[in-house]
Amino acid sequence: MFDLTGRTALVTGAGQNIGAGIARALGAAGATVLVNDLRSERAEEVVEALVADSHAAVAVAFDVTDRAAIDAAVAEAGPIDVLVNNAGNGGAEAMLPKKFADTDPDDWRGPMEVNLQGVLHCCHAVLPGMVERGHGRIITISSAAGTHGVGIGFAPYSVGKGGSLSLMRSLALEHGRDGITANSVALGIMDSVRAETAAALTKTIPVGRLGSPDDVGAACLWLASDEAGWITGQTIGLNGGAFTS
Ligand SMILES: NC(=O)c1ccc[n+]([C@@H]2O[C@H](COP(=O)([O-])OP(=O)(O)OC[C@H]3O[C@@H](n4cnc5c(N)ncnc54)[C@H](O)[C@@H]3O)[C@@H](O)[C@H]2O)c1
Repeated sequence: MFDLTGRTALVTGAGQNIGAGIARALGAAGATVLVNDLRSERAEEVVEALVADSHAAVAVAFDVTDRAAIDAAVAEAGPIDVLVNNAGNGGAEAMLPKKFADTDPDDWRGPMEVNLQGVLHCCHAVLPGMVERGHGRIITISSAAGTHGVGIGFAPYSVGKGGSLSLMRSLALEHGRDGITANSVALGIMDSVRAETAAALTKTIPVGRLGSPDDVGAACLWLASDEAGWITGQTIGLNGGAFTS
């Protein structure tokens, strides 16, 4: 089960942390992984580790907000069977020290460009090839911020992450008959939180631990597999039982 031999998977923002975990899971299942990151040195480091573990991987540096650069990379890469939209600016970076009413247009630009526009660009770039080949898996890494909202200061991030969920649903409806599925994985509290807050946050999670990149990799592997062909337009809450209502 979950054999990705012969498939090529593009994972964006895979130069560290969650994206690197996704790249590892897909690589271990036999996929050739195109490891994307804005910072080429990060992508190359992840590729080195995957190749050292006998997985097939290639570093592909581009900015997901740069449509021309994505098109060039996709044209050079050849057929892409699986796209994981992971690049995003979460964590402390996502929080603004102000309420929605105090934000100005500049506050919205970054979160919307990376978390929504970047997803849109990458989907747009890979979809024609997937339609032509009659097969594709698109997975977007979203957040409880997008499904539930996570508090003051997170409005732009939440809207970007929420918009990406809607895009997956739309693609699911439009491309179900093309053999393409589109799903989201909405993450809860991950083990990258600040050490000072980890213990208190862990108490809010029913399974009693923070999420890890390997947890996300496992979910993405399942959604990328042939076995998940009847799952589309869904948002999988990956959160240890938090954010259930
Ligand atoms: N860490 C969390 O607690 C958490 C929770 C919910 C959702 N998420 C989401 O999970 C995803 C990964 O989060 P993470 O914690 O691993 O982030 P991270 O910041 O640790 O890593 C993100 C990687 O993406 C790259 N990147 C950033 N902008 C890019 C761009 N425009 N083009 C290409 N690459 C870019 C960065 O260089 C970095 O290597 C994000 O979409 C984030 O919003 C994270």
